[in-house]
Amino acid sequence: MRLLLINGPNLNLLGRREPGLYGSTSLESIETDLKERATAEGVHLDCFQSNFEGAIVECIHQAIGQVDAILINAGAYTHTSIALRDALLGAEIPYVEVHLSNTYAREKFRQSSFLADRSIGVVSGFGAISYQLAMNGLIAHLRKEVKSQ
Ligand code: DQA
Repeated sequence: MRLLLINGPNLNLLGRREPGLYGSTSLESIETDLKERATAEGVHLDCFQSNFEGAIVECIHQAIGQVDAILINAGAYTHTSIALRDALLGAEIPYVEVHLSNTYAREKFRQSSFLADRSIGVVSGFGAISYQLAMNGLIAHLRKEVKSQ
């Protein structure tokens, strides 16, 4: 099984960016930890981060035929980007939406997502652990261990 983790704008600043909201763990350490957990599950995980919408669209296109599913924290593009939605749907790659913060407990403009309704699921509000929960859920889904689906 091959998975791809995509992080969008400003997530490269994790660790120093608004730590009260996003915690003090760096993106590099989240990625390293997640790769180790993936390997322990016999899963290959690639990681990508960009602050540019088009670069994320390109990354999704390049993932066609290469990965079984995507974990994506699109950052602010979650709430604005029809282009990312179209890329994910066009690529026909199943995906899980991830957020460190609980976007539903924040400003109104963060309470909507262009990605959520077509995702396998959304994990939001558990800080860096959101990524682990999302990956565990995704692996179980792909292994057909989730009985409700
Ligand atoms: C975020 C939530 C978004 O609203 C915000 O723009 C981010 C981070 C999160 O992980 O909580 O950049 O995606």
